[in-house]
Amino acid sequence: MSDADVELEARLEEQEAFEPPASFVDQANVSDESIYEEFEENWPDCWTQAADMLDWEREYTEVLDDSDEPFYEWFGDGTLNASYNCIDRHLEDGNKNRVAIKWEGELGETRTYTYQDLYREVNEFAAALRELGVEEDDVVTMYMPMVPELPIAMLACARIGAPHSVVFAGFSSEALATRMNAADSEYLVTCDGYYRRGDALDHVEKANEGLDAVDHGVEAVVVKDRLGDELDHSLKGNQYDWDDLMADHLGDRVDPVERGAEDMLFLMYTSGTTGKPKGVKHTTGGYLSYVTWTSHAVLDIEPEDTYWCSADIGWITGHSYIVYGPLSLGTTTVMYEGTPDYPARDRLWELVEKYSVDIFYTAPTAIRAFMKWGSRFPEEHDLSSLRLLGTVGEPINPRAWKWYYKHIGGEECPIVDTWWQTETGGMMVTTLPGIGTMKPGSAGPPLPGIDARVVDTNGHEVDAGRAGYLTVDKPWPGMLRTLYKNDERFVEEYWEEYSDPEEDEWVYFPEDGAKIDDDGYITVLGRVDDVINVSGHRLGTMEIESAIVGVEGVAEAAVVGGDHEVKGETVYAYVITEEGYDESEDLRARIIEGVEDAIGPIARPEEVVFTPELPKTRSGKIMRRLLEDIANDEELGDTSTLRNPDVVDDIQRKVREP
Ligand code: WTA
Repeated sequence: MSDADVELEARLEEQEAFEPPASFVDQANVSDESIYEEFEENWPDCWTQAADMLDWEREYTEVLDDSDEPFYEWFGDGTLNASYNCIDRHLEDGNKNRVAIKWEGELGETRTYTYQDLYREVNEFAAALRELGVEEDDVVTMYMPMVPELPIAMLACARIGAPHSVVFAGFSSEALATRMNAADSEYLVTCDGYYRRGDALDHVEKANEGLDAVDHGVEAVVVKDRLGDELDHSLKGNQYDWDDLMADHLGDRVDPVERGAEDMLFLMYTSGTTGKPKGVKHTTGGYLSYVTWTSHAVLDIEPEDTYWCSADIGWITGHSYIVYGPLSLGTTTVMYEGTPDYPARDRLWELVEKYSVDIFYTAPTAIRAFMKWGSRFPEEHDLSSLRLLGTVGEPINPRAWKWYYKHIGGEECPIVDTWWQTETGGMMVTTLPGIGTMKPGSAGPPLPGIDARVVDTNGHEVDAGRAGYLTVDKPWPGMLRTLYKNDERFVEEYWEEYSDPEEDEWVYFPEDGAKIDDDGYITVLGRVDDVINVSGHRLGTMEIESAIVGVEGVAEAAVVGGDHEVKGETVYAYVITEEGYDESEDLRARIIEGVEDAIGPIARPEEVVFTPELPKTRSGKIMRRLLEDIANDEELGDTSTLRNPDVVDDIQRKVREP
């Protein structure tokens, strides 16, 4: 550690609260504390502030319809188009030559789309989709890496009122098929490949394997040729080349379709407690209002800014805060194709300097990696353009927070630690950067208008400092409306736990544990269900388990999250082999392969521990908590209530000396 680092540690370690710098406050989009009170007093009408940031085709007259709880409707009688709001209206404002998307490929090639360029391409692709037969309300699946064609395709769908369902490109072909099947999606947009650490990866082969496993007819597949001569791929019968389609529709214009506020804008599949991913449904009016408002209030985005969120568009963070929020505000959003350490560990800082990035939003797992690599990488670059930093996806430990504050923000940028979920659509708990004192490790108070609380199992608010469960007691515009074609599971998963339907009390349960302090600051502790968070990616342990038991030779499996310095959590798999199979390296390799095939490399088990038995309660339930403690080498509580207490020692020994 350098002298400067030692000094920082000493000075910052003690400091528990940080004020936003005056230079930031002076220019902040929101800097008047009275906003909290104002929103509370005027709830739910306060949310017109968000809705009024959009251009509506037909003005809404009702803010919230709660006549059929928990199926809320926001701005229900209004109509609008999301693509119009993210593109056309900026042309009319005289900003057609402002840069909408700055894209940088991993190898260093760049593409720049002004709002006018984006308008042209989105229109042309919308016309192409129509020609392929896509109609309003048809779900179009996208399986694409970070190429500009992804947001273009999303906005083209929004333009013609066809909901998109984006599947993260790192997911396996099986995961793609599962999602296309669940959404009855008959259209796919994909690309031939992309670069990772300098290598050209074949993506279309994975897509084709997925298509083979789709259980219904697929009308059309569009393939963008990203790699050119690097990769030869041939198109099949129902497959079309992106560039050919665009050439056919050169200059075409498609009027934005008038969508009801409650009409679906997109579906996003996310992991839950069962083996089946959940199709989270987001709407046009409420979602777009909410991400626009939070991009303005929390990310402090101005149209003049260059804003960069380093997430992947395949996750909700990319949907809300690379595509919809920033473009709705008419700013410049940066997209980077590759990894942060290619060709060197300063790649992100090189980009911040090159594009003079004003606002940077990333995940704690990335920050922990930067920290491990050392401060000399950011120090090689001029990062003084930065005004605000953000984090999302998992808890950030105070040490990582302080490193980010010092080495990336130069102690001059506020940090917003934003808690939210795929289901919430946008940010829910965070400080407002121009107002709130920051406390490293604690996300902050709920945003204005958001009624988040920390409660005990009976739903009573816990005392400051005590751990409990996070709940949201009032609806908000960005909330999911249901799980696709599964209202029942929607109610079960999110509302049953803390609501009292008899009393007409509906409480949303995000399945996170949390603490609250005397100032009302919430520290989110992590999931309390069987979902783990690996490098900020949400994975269902049941999904991984079902992949493992699908491997020949495996009788039973239990998956838990083990603590990890950089990734936050990693996958620990405890496996019982089938009679006649050895606990061999070959089986271990097949298990890892099985998980990669079913879900993708992100879910690959870090540890596979063979065991003759799993610790179970007398009623036969696997004691996951115990397996987690073993993975983390923690003190084990009372194990005498187990049906098979002896197994614990065995497993413990194996984890310590694999
Ligand atoms: C976790 C990502 C602590 C949490 C936007 C949540 C966080 C899950 C934070 C949602 C944060 C997200 N502090 N934990 N600032 N942000 N989480 O759906 O457990 O991929 O439930 O949405 O990530 O993950 P998802």
